[in-house]
Amino acid sequence: MFEHKPQPGWIAVEEYLTEAVVHPNGSLQRAVQSAVDAGMPPIEVAPNAGKLLKLLVQMSGARRVLEIGTLAGFSTIWMAQGLPDDGRLVTCEYLPKHADVARSNLDAAGVGHKVDIRIGAALDSLAALEAEGHEPFDFVFIDADKENDSRYLDWAVRLGRPGATVILDNAVWEGAVLEPSLDPVNAPGIIGALELLGSHPKLDATVIQTVGSKGWDGFALAVIR
Ligand code: SAH
Ligand code: DHB
Ligand code: MG
Repeated sequence: MFEHKPQPGWIAVEEYLTEAVVHPNGSLQRAVQSAVDAGMPPIEVAPNAGKLLKLLVQMSGARRVLEIGTLAGFSTIWMAQGLPDDGRLVTCEYLPKHADVARSNLDAAGVGHKVDIRIGAALDSLAALEAEGHEPFDFVFIDADKENDSRYLDWAVRLGRPGATVILDNAVWEGAVLEPSLDPVNAPGIIGALELLGSHPKLDATVIQTVGSKGWDGFALAVIR
């Protein structure tokens, strides 16, 4: 959908920062390659953003993490690496094939024992987590179908504890948040989520714009009051 290609300078700097500072381990690099080999779309978070997720999990002392949108498990591995050994992560993925690739990547990365992959439409999996009386989550990462972003935010508030961290990927979408006609399928969902982040009585939020290998985009961060 992106109109503009990421600028070469952004990518070169991102590669430099990844090499100099971020240091994704071998299992993370293999997870990216596994997705390419399986013909999956290359839409995982960039390594510097994945490392941010890991550090935020660590900094917040999270022990229960919820992810919506697994793909090949790249962001999942990063967050699981930020959890203590007895920490747990539930990740929701619609496509069984993606879940299979993710399962083998998570096991190969040595974090498989921390991760429960729920296959199916995330809205159903989230309702099931509530019905099961799942322990409240400390950290929620939303990165699936953008049309449902507002619904996922509502679920994050329902399933997260007060003080929990909520992160929403793809919050700027090449500027389509100001020009929804650029992407009539996804932009309205993202705009709705931004409006909710700015107005929800239980959320206190900001958005950081990003540029790099994934183009011009952003990370929304919120805390549940
Ligand atoms: N978080 C991943 C990238 C996720 S890409 C990473 O950074 O590594 C988005 C994923 O959401 C895809 O795997 C897609 O199949 C999944 N998805 C799309 N719609 C969904 C839905 N309704 N329920 C659950 N998963 C969905
Ligand atoms: C797409 C989805 C993502 O979650 C992302 O980070 C980048 C791109 C996409 O569907 O194009
Ligand atoms: Mg994303």
